Amino acid sequence: MTSEQKDNKKEENKMIVTPWDTSGKIDYNKLVIQFGTTLIDDALLEKFKKVTGKDLHPWMKRGIFFTHRSFDVFLDAYANGEPVFLYTGRGPSTDAMHIGHLIPFLFTKWLQDVFDCPLVIQISDEEKAAFKQLDFNVLHEMGIKNAKEIISCGFNPKKTFIFSNRDYRLRCPQYENFTSDMKNNTSMKLIQSIFGLQGTGNIAMYDWPVYQSAAAFYQAYPHIFGNRPAYCLVPHAIDQDPYFRLARDAASKMNLIKPCNIECTFIPPLTGQDGKMSSSKAEATLFLDDTEEILRKKIMTLCLSGADPDPEVHKKKGGNVDMDIAYQYLKYFEYDDKRLEEIKEGFTKGTISAVEIKEILVQSLYKIMKQIQDYRKTIDDKLIEDFYAQKPMDLPKPKMKEPTKEETKLYEYLDQLKIQHTTKYHVAIITKDQAEDLARMLEGTICKGILLKSKEGYIYYIINEQTTVNPKVLSKKIGA
Ligand code: TRP
Repeated sequence: MTSEQKDNKKEENKMIVTPWDTSGKIDYNKLVIQFGTTLIDDALLEKFKKVTGKDLHPWMKRGIFFTHRSFDVFLDAYANGEPVFLYTGRGPSTDAMHIGHLIPFLFTKWLQDVFDCPLVIQISDEEKAAFKQLDFNVLHEMGIKNAKEIISCGFNPKKTFIFSNRDYRLRCPQYENFTSDMKNNTSMKLIQSIFGLQGTGNIAMYDWPVYQSAAAFYQAYPHIFGNRPAYCLVPHAIDQDPYFRLARDAASKMNLIKPCNIECTFIPPLTGQDGKMSSSKAEATLFLDDTEEILRKKIMTLCLSGADPDPEVHKKKGGNVDMDIAYQYLKYFEYDDKRLEEIKEGFTKGTISAVEIKEILVQSLYKIMKQIQDYRKTIDDKLIEDFYAQKPMDLPKPKMKEPTKEETKLYEYLDQLKIQHTTKYHVAIITKDQAEDLARMLEGTICKGILLKSKEGYIYYIINEQTTVNPKVLSKKIGA
């Protein structure tokens, strides 16, 4: 090889990771430094277990979800009983989703069960219109098709809101107002430097990043959170990180709660280690709707093996799991740690052959895919409507705070008068805005209060659990 050829080869292998482009040999440690995220360490994993009382997901143990931004802050908020929510998304550029797309969604589904919290899913039809120059209506249709596959991962319709970005911002003025504020706080220079855009292309390309970022703030979802602050966690593949650098920058300027992120590696292509699986090479891509036979055929013929081509040599010398794509995929799709270890040992020693490890992969992967395919068949228009509806969702009850001196005095006074009260929901409020916030938080809960006049205005003390809070009545009383 001449030195020029060597340089070309290096060039070919050059790592490129942007939200729109991934190629070359990916060095994740380098990416972490380049992007400025933090590696997930044992202390953080321990904290997760302690706060949630749950075991780790295999993908957390295996370094697949390997880096984060402020995941500890999110865990603290959750531990404190603050409202939290999850946010992820999908760019509808093709009809069929593949197993690479599945990873963040399956992980998000698991997180939704762990935190039992609202989830929002942005379908970024406008992103794809800007970058792929495709007809918007076609993309919008694709988005709905994709949503069906996403729903098939098993999300809870009562706690999940899926939206087409275009439809939602036209329908929800608060979302559009919020993104407008964010645009005023975002410089063109910043967008160019974070996303490596150089002033060429269309305006929509420069506009889009604000939407993907703005969707990570509770202010974007008045039907879910009203005025109640909530912490956001975004599970995603590391190529989406630039959006959240932008979001966090805006959060500093606008004094907002910074979104938190947990980020994963890419599933490698079937044929090798570099880059990521991509729909553009259909024959080497494992689609969610592939049948077991198609899956087997693709894996048997294309999956790069870490075994010697001569089966006898493999038996004697053993294989290399780091090079074996079937094993690399099993790290994603064989959830049982013990079984995975046995497979690794067998393949390394040569007792499991190249064909056998591929067949193990077919079985493990198809088990997961079949569940999704079976669920997909039951999805009807009504269910899709439920996911797209702007509906309220349950949030944790507001927490009791320590009583102030005045409140303690009030309770003593009430005791003297033999008026029954509990401190469970005691809250002192003085302004109409506070009253409206409180009324929203407590709507439907059973409380009883008394209205007192003080120097600053009216104070409504909620003292026990015998009447239902009616927001209108409460704010009227205070406003009076
Ligand atoms: N940009 C993502 C894609 O092209 C889609 C997306 C929109 C997203 N919002 C998101 C991904 C939030 C992760 C988190 O597929």
